[in-house]
Amino acid sequence: MARSGAHYTPHSRNDSSMHDSSYRSSAHANPGTAGSDTSRPSTPRFSTTRGDASYAAAVQKSSASKNPYLQAQSSNSKIKRDRVGFVTADKGFVSAKRPMTGSKKPKRGMTRRDFIMLGGLAAIAAALPIGWNIFRPVEIVINGARRTYNVNTPMSEILSKEKISVTAGNLTSVSGNVITEGKGYAYSVKIDDKDLSFDDGNNYKIHGGENITIGNGGDIMEEYSVETVETQPKLTMDGTWGAVTYVSQWGKVEKKEIRTGKTSGETADGEVTQKGQDCVLKTRNLQPKDGKKLISITFDDGPSVYTERYLQILKDHGAVATFFNLGQNVDEMPEISKKIIDAGHEIMSHTYHHDVLTKDSAERVQSELDTSYESIKKATGVETTMVRPPYGAFTEKTWAVTQGKMSASILWNQDSLDWSRPGVDKIVANSVNGIQPGYIILMHDGGGPREQDLEALPQIIDKLHDQGYTFVTVTDLMKADGDVPEDILTGKAKMPEDAIWPTELG
Ligand code: NI
Repeated sequence: MARSGAHYTPHSRNDSSMHDSSYRSSAHANPGTAGSDTSRPSTPRFSTTRGDASYAAAVQKSSASKNPYLQAQSSNSKIKRDRVGFVTADKGFVSAKRPMTGSKKPKRGMTRRDFIMLGGLAAIAAALPIGWNIFRPVEIVINGARRTYNVNTPMSEILSKEKISVTAGNLTSVSGNVITEGKGYAYSVKIDDKDLSFDDGNNYKIHGGENITIGNGGDIMEEYSVETVETQPKLTMDGTWGAVTYVSQWGKVEKKEIRTGKTSGETADGEVTQKGQDCVLKTRNLQPKDGKKLISITFDDGPSVYTERYLQILKDHGAVATFFNLGQNVDEMPEISKKIIDAGHEIMSHTYHHDVLTKDSAERVQSELDTSYESIKKATGVETTMVRPPYGAFTEKTWAVTQGKMSASILWNQDSLDWSRPGVDKIVANSVNGIQPGYIILMHDGGGPREQDLEALPQIIDKLHDQGYTFVTVTDLMKADGDVPEDILTGKAKMPEDAIWPTELG
């Protein structure tokens, strides 16, 4: 468990889309509204933010172009300009001292009178659309009543005139209990079918034609502190037994906020900032799609002095196979491993020393995997993270110590029992009898005398060919199955960077 501190200002429980910053901005009065505009009264309750850049720019433009309406109406146009100047200077757009009315020097060849005429015409032309845009009356419907206001009239101003009766929201604790009634948002604004955040509603300027619904205000949550709690993924099994086990989902840490109310002292779950998931190992038998008669034949404990004769038989009888090489043997005969790959077969790891991995320490398990992968890559260029555990000994606990170094464990469905040298006929029968599509046959090309195998192998291939089976590599068998994730099918899947390997069983 890891915790990290952070501080949040409150926001509405009723509006999950509202971010903390929006509340903060409404809490701090904009300097542009500070008592300088007597022509637009506003109540403290619906404090406005008319100093925003677009409004200021519009007023500045209209002043600059000597809007006759504005000059006639406003006896304090200087104050207005100062206000605009203050706001715009504050925003860093123009200097407050910069002259707002045109005083360009006449160009050469023009008389002063020409300039005044041209300038006057240009000013009138420029003023018309802007004046029209600001003072054009438009209709809106507000809580069912039809009203006329100038376009761009702010919602706060409309509300101060309309006297709509609504109930303010409450100040609530982090777990939703009311701390103070009526200390929430004063009202809510819905434009047509869209609910606005409190600030967006308060700052809204009408275009005309809207159907506006003013409703009760939403609650405001008390201020709270945040701690982030991490939950580690667990290792879980999907299925009880099968010839293959692979990572069907990588584990991820869950990060969740725990909020502690500064007023109430209550704690409550906050947002899940990172969704977590368990690591899932799927264990099952492969089933080729559409009932295709595909099987895999596999050879363990090589490479050895026998391996090249296996390659010749496979070639002569038109079959491909998967070889589970031991790292220590690969290091002794790297050229044999290379020949396996060059002949179109597949190599996966059988560990380095043929340990019973269930009895190994975590460090030893990991080094058995790493060193065998390295030997195979060095000899053949092939990268693999698929493993046949020696003796088939591999439990959920062993998976838990792999640190995600293994993407799949490949066992078998048909055990030829060739290691006990039961005779050629027995090896053939053990390999062939009861076989089904998707099955994996276990044989050996190392680890002892292999003469019985060499005699049995051509018979096994021919018998299964006669039954309509096609030999494919284990990877191709997994591909034909259709359930194995894409990254696992590469044969060299590694745990993604944003994943974590669980040490705890689910
Ligand atoms: Ni073995």
